[in-house]
Amino acid sequence: MDFYEVIRTRRSVRSYKPDPIPKDVLRRVLEAARIAPSGSNRQPWRFIIVEDEDLKRRLAEACSNQYFIEEAPVVIVACGYNIRYNRGGYMGDMSMLVDVSIAFTHLILAARVEGLGTCWIGSFDNEEVKKILNIPKDVNVVAITPLGYPKREDAFAEPGPRKALEEITSTDRF
Ligand SMILES: Cc1cc2nc3c(=O)[nH]c(=O)nc-3n(C[C@H](O)[C@H](O)[C@H](O)COP(=O)(O)O)c2cc1C
Repeated sequence: MDFYEVIRTRRSVRSYKPDPIPKDVLRRVLEAARIAPSGSNRQPWRFIIVEDEDLKRRLAEACSNQYFIEEAPVVIVACGYNIRYNRGGYMGDMSMLVDVSIAFTHLILAARVEGLGTCWIGSFDNEEVKKILNIPKDVNVVAITPLGYPKREDAFAEPGPRKALEEITSTDRF
């Protein structure tokens, strides 16, 4: 699939078939995250693949009761190590958010190529998710996504409304 078609037809999918994801497909999607770039190549991430039904249910609850999450056969929880390393930018110790988000974007786009749906979940209770999945103190949850085959035939539609290019770009000055 052409790269531009991948990014144009990636949609947030909020209903899933229970069909399992073949192991080799899941591996390719995770591999896309693994090879992502990161500051000083530190790779401060950890991806938890959640398949257990009870854990998925508890995760959905910890994500503001977004129950469609547990419909998917797999839920991916992207975590980042709170590395104490300030590159000099204003983000300081929070720079891992950028690194993990890049890797998570790789994963989400690779899922699209495989015909798998995702939905970036940012509404979650970090402490609750950490408790459910035994995530250590020095690690935080950055993003979560259900991963599975979409229920709806039209899941990979064209994008919804977006700002015009003229509104979000400028040349030489802000
Ligand atoms: C950082 C972030 C957090 C988001 N959190 C949620 C969420 O908690 N629940 C949800 O259903 N969608 C969530 N979304 C999905 C957005 O609503 C969605 O990407 C946006 O409306 C554009 O639609 P599209 O992804 O289908 O193009 C989130 C997306 C991002 C990037």
